[in-house]
Amino acid sequence: MNILAISGSLRQQSLNTRLIVALQQRAAADCSIAMATLHDIPLYNGDDEERDGIPAAVSKLRERMVAADALILATPEYNAGMPGVLKNALDWLSRPPELMAPTFAHKPLALCGATPGGLGTTLAQAGSLQVLRQFKVQLYPEHLRVSSAHQQLDASGSPDQRLASALDRWLAGFIDFAGYSRS
Ligand code: FNR
Repeated sequence: MNILAISGSLRQQSLNTRLIVALQQRAAADCSIAMATLHDIPLYNGDDEERDGIPAAVSKLRERMVAADALILATPEYNAGMPGVLKNALDWLSRPPELMAPTFAHKPLALCGATPGGLGTTLAQAGSLQVLRQFKVQLYPEHLRVSSAHQQLDASGSPDQRLASALDRWLAGFIDFAGYSRS
């Protein structure tokens, strides 16, 4: 299975990017997880869209999403919601409206998130669910929430033993779900 994981953080030392690296490390041989970041996605501006169309970086990300069997979104939590960079990318990806369904509809998608805090991005994920409802993805019902992530993921993204086991279980469940959803 070919999964594309999108990090919702631009930070070099991002815990959410590290969480994706940890998932890449734990992926079994029959599953590859590629990572996409949102560094090149400009701020949505309807004037720019009208003048220049969809930015190349958005189209490139869309192509990678369409080619993937399944998607993972790793969202930080900013003020109890998803960060603007992730919402901005989703807004671009919903344009033009006729490309929304080919990009997202029925695509297996899993949400995960990491925070140094104690509540594991619960509120960001609640907000993400509301947004993702518009996109009609096939949402994996188990959301991975990593609290105290700075203590569980080292600087290279390697998880400690307890998190590694949790990632293994979550990923295996998602792969089953995605395989079932697409069959
Ligand atoms: C945060 N952070 C945060 N954490 C949390 O658990 N709940 C929250 O509501 C917020 N709010 C928030 C707002 C803003 C503007 C910032 C910059 C940060 C802390 C956040 O979880 C922490 O910075 C993470 O490390 C961000 O994710 P990355 O960049 O490490 O992936």
